[in-house]
Amino acid sequence: MRHTVPAGMDRKESEVYLRLDPARLPQHIAIIMDGNGRWARRRHMPRVAGHRAGVASVRSTVETAARIGIPALTLYAFSEENWKKRPKSEVDFLMRLLCRYLKAEIKTLNENNVRLQYIGRQHELPESVQREMEEASCATSKNTGMLLTLALNYSARSEIVDAFRSLAEAAARNGGLDHIRVDEQSISDHLYTRGLPDPDLVIRTSGEMRLSNFLLWQLAYAEIYVTQTLWPDFRGVQLLEGIEEYQKRDRRYGGLGKDGHAPQHPSHHGHAGANR
Ligand code: FPP
Repeated sequence: MRHTVPAGMDRKESEVYLRLDPARLPQHIAIIMDGNGRWARRRHMPRVAGHRAGVASVRSTVETAARIGIPALTLYAFSEENWKKRPKSEVDFLMRLLCRYLKAEIKTLNENNVRLQYIGRQHELPESVQREMEEASCATSKNTGMLLTLALNYSARSEIVDAFRSLAEAAARNGGLDHIRVDEQSISDHLYTRGLPDPDLVIRTSGEMRLSNFLLWQLAYAEIYVTQTLWPDFRGVQLLEGIEEYQKRDRRYGGLGKDGHAPQHPSHHGHAGANR
């Protein structure tokens, strides 16, 4: 029997949704939003026009993910490197845009039962931005649906450094390293993403094949989906297409495929090679 389409979806989204298996949706999707500058350049517009247009993509993606029941969505909005390597005028624009987004979106987030939180070195952001962030997360804290995590001033390496520091502090408080547990679970518990399942799917827009210092620990076994679509052109339907591709993959976590064999690469007859 065909499953029913959640309310609010347009025709194109419904078409793709009906091809999905609702029982095998990714539990956590992470997205590297890229290509705003190129989108603007192609239109002979300033780079910031691409960022402005990218807000509609955020809205559509969040709504669609919430409607179909994705439990967690994480968006890479600004990396730590973004601050250091972009002109001050662009960074200032992004800050204002973020504040405007946080104010304007509370209503839509509440309508969609979405809870908002952040990862990244929040304390290094301008105080006015931190205040807006706090307000928006408080205003959505009672929601019980999707958890939307915005990565702001985020760097995966800094996150790992902070986790080491916090583990070392725990050791110092508890009588030394021999008195604390150090394993994969305890490291995960000291990351900014503690409590979140690792992403099953990471999407990157604009065709770049890089992780760019995003969730390096958490993405260990994620399926990677790269689309040529530039972020300002990305909508809910492209998210569903990414999920459709994800559902075609055979996830092996270092083991063998469903048929009991590691798939053989056509150019390496008889040599499956390292099975990752
Ligand atoms: C990458 O495009 C995008 C960013 C660095 C900023 C992301 C911001 C948004 C999507 C809009 C606002 C977001 C929120 C959450 C309100 P790029 O500038 O690196 O593009 P390019 O590689 O084509 O130059």
